[in-house]
Amino acid sequence: MSVVAQWGDEKSGASPVILGLFSVPRVIDRVGPADFETLEEIHAASFAVPWSADEQAALNEGPGVATFVARRISATASRRPIGFITVRQAADEAEVLTMAVHPRQRRSGIGRLLLNAAMRHLYAERVREVFLEVDPHNTAAVALYRRTGFEVVGERPDYYGGNGGARQKALTMRLEFKQPAFERLRSGASAPCR
Ligand SMILES: CC(C)(COP(=O)(O)OP(=O)(O)OC[C@H]1O[C@@H](n2cnc3c(N)ncnc32)[C@H](O)[C@@H]1OP(=O)(O)O)[C@@H](O)C(=O)NCCC(=O)NCCS
Repeated sequence: MSVVAQWGDEKSGASPVILGLFSVPRVIDRVGPADFETLEEIHAASFAVPWSADEQAALNEGPGVATFVARRISATASRRPIGFITVRQAADEAEVLTMAVHPRQRRSGIGRLLLNAAMRHLYAERVREVFLEVDPHNTAAVALYRRTGFEVVGERPDYYGGNGGARQKALTMRLEFKQPAFERLRSGASAPCR
């Protein structure tokens, strides 16, 4: 399994992740068949409408779909996923279908590294622009996407199902790879993990 990004070591040039007294190695690589049960758990802990392991496995069989997984490598050498992102490419456009980090692992730079890994993949695949829909009240996600270079380009009313049948709008965001802010990803530079 090829490693897309690695941090907590000198290869990435990133700061080690310190949990207690120990540096915990973590990697980002592509999803494998054994991962989907854990991805189901992470998705269920992150969204009101969870995607099952079978649904995620089937999605990943589709054309142009790629899922990147962040793993924590434990003392027992288990490589349990702690976050993931799924993207889909069609010609020179792509979309972020979903992304989530386990609630206990948030705010340590994992989401940013996952998004960067997926964008580097799409860039290498000659994608020109990437779209996504996000809940405008999802402060964390909107901030993460903005700082990666996504901009709001529209709104989709009635996008999300709401309580009691009321539906909520989504923001449509777009990243164009020609933006200078994205150029640093070209070199494969990883953001430091905090
Ligand atoms: C959105 C999500 C993936 C971010 O993952 P994360 O690993 O916590 O994010 P990071 O630690 O890499 O944070 C990167 C940047 O995102 C923004 N961010 C992340 N969490 C934030 C929060 N709670 N509030 C405000 N900004 C936040 C910040 O700009 C942050 O950079 P900074 O810490 O230097 O300010 C995570 O919160 C999550 O899984 N949420 C539930 C699922 C979800 O909403 N997915 C997106 C649906 S479109």
